[in-house]
Amino acid sequence: MAKLTFHGHATCSIEAADGTKIVIDPFFGDNPACDITVDDVEADFILVTHAHGDHIGDLLPLARRTGALLISSHELVSWAGTHGIENVHGMSIGGEFSFPFGYAKMTLAAHGARNEGPGGDGYPTTPAGFLINLNEGTSVYHAGDTALLLDMQLLKGRVDVALLPIGDNYTMGPQDAVTAVEFIEPKVVIPIHFNTWPPIEQDGQAFKAAVGEQAHVEVLEPGGTYEF
Ligand code: NI
Ligand code: MN
Repeated sequence: MAKLTFHGHATCSIEAADGTKIVIDPFFGDNPACDITVDDVEADFILVTHAHGDHIGDLLPLARRTGALLISSHELVSWAGTHGIENVHGMSIGGEFSFPFGYAKMTLAAHGARNEGPGGDGYPTTPAGFLINLNEGTSVYHAGDTALLLDMQLLKGRVDVALLPIGDNYTMGPQDAVTAVEFIEPKVVIPIHFNTWPPIEQDGQAFKAAVGEQAHVEVLEPGGTYEF
């Protein structure tokens, strides 16, 4: 079994059955919804969907301390290199690659991605999501920040656990996220990127009710975990 922990906003970590630790979108210190500080986080791999501050807030210190492999867009890992982060793997949309934990595929996201986190250079990066297939045979889709996309239909039948933004305003909202569930047909949905700040306040339980029988919706509080 793998264990997924939600740390608030879009920050999640996955501990695979063999103990490998994957952190997605490290944003701890300035994340008002976060349950821990970056100093408490262990990582073997760090996956980053895009370079907005609410996704890379603690990337550089986490990468430096842990030495974890940073997996993100070519543009983002090149920038990290200018800050001394050299254990990196750059990818782009539609590509997949095998890592020790399984394979990761970068998926399309419709969003901005100017590099504006701490140390950001202001240049655009590629916004993306990740389909992560763990060696143990289960899969997680972290959509990143994105609008609803017809392309999500390509993920149909390939996702066990879908991490979908429902906050609206900056990403798709609950109604479009229900359509995303119809497209993807995941077994489990965990809503993310909501209730962090006033513009993205949403009712997780109302989203769960709207999804209904289409998937199991697990509304996690920061620090909450789900095993799969
Ligand atoms: Ni963003
Ligand atoms: Mn965001």
